[in-house]
Amino acid sequence: MQVFETRLALQTALNTSENIGFVPTMGALHQGHVSLIAEARKNHKTVVASIFVNPTQFNNPEDFKKYPIDTEKDLEKLRDAGCDMVFLPSVAEIYPQGTDSNKHYDLQGLEAVMEGKMRPGHFQGVARVVHLLLDAVKPKKLYLGEKDFQQICVIKTMVETEKIGTELVVCKTIREISGLAMSSRNRRLDEFSLSLAKNLYAALQYVKQEQKNAHLAELLHHAQTFFLKNNGIDTEYLQVCLENDLTKIVDKLDGHKKYRIFVAASIAGVRLIDNIALYDEK
Ligand code: PAJ
Repeated sequence: MQVFETRLALQTALNTSENIGFVPTMGALHQGHVSLIAEARKNHKTVVASIFVNPTQFNNPEDFKKYPIDTEKDLEKLRDAGCDMVFLPSVAEIYPQGTDSNKHYDLQGLEAVMEGKMRPGHFQGVARVVHLLLDAVKPKKLYLGEKDFQQICVIKTMVETEKIGTELVVCKTIREISGLAMSSRNRRLDEFSLSLAKNLYAALQYVKQEQKNAHLAELLHHAQTFFLKNNGIDTEYLQVCLENDLTKIVDKLDGHKKYRIFVAASIAGVRLIDNIALYDEK
């Protein structure tokens, strides 16, 4: 496995490779990230991962400072997963003109809901860094995790409006046995908080299972009170959206449409997100 710190060195090594699968990450890797590498490994001659903690997507500077960094272990995991090349740039390498930018991506309302609303500027930062990384790697396919479903919608919009010829591959959320979605942020939870965190998934599953048995508003209220609030979990949002454009649904679910339920909540100051489909997946 080769590691490159500059765009030029990476591009020289990639040369004219056409069959590249790309997995962008911010490091502190876990099984969720590894599953994306494994999926890319099945389909491409060359698998490239990036590790870059992107400052422009952190609306909270404290969160950026606290983001876990464990490069040696990350490289070991990537090597074991069969990754061919790793792009490990500095902030100056990605943003040679500095992190301020005049470019504004039209994200078609995605910034006004859920993560977009709670974290101003976050998705502009995500769109910008993924655009820069795609330009450096020029992959055939980009592998993304369903855990960050809204991020997938944002990147899809950016790839379409910027007319980038890369295909998106959406990979399932990898969970702990408790149901908790794997996340680099879980490292910041102590044992007690970890035992509470499984309630996020339990709340989502409850609404999915009961969706035909009660009004949506009642289900959401019960899920939030019973699974989250009563366990001292601070909910930012728990809501159902149409899968294709993330329109929020407040009353009736139409049996012919595809919905997902999304949650964001903080436990002991650590902010976690999750989502599942309300329909049965294959
Ligand atoms: P990061 O949080 O490191 O996640 C990198 C990729 O791993 C994303 O596509 C994310 O959805 C996926 N992922 C995270 N947890 C997962 C899980 N439990 N199961 C499956 N996939 C999972 O997302 C980012 O970094 C950044 O915003 C990035 C796209 C790299 C841009 O900076």
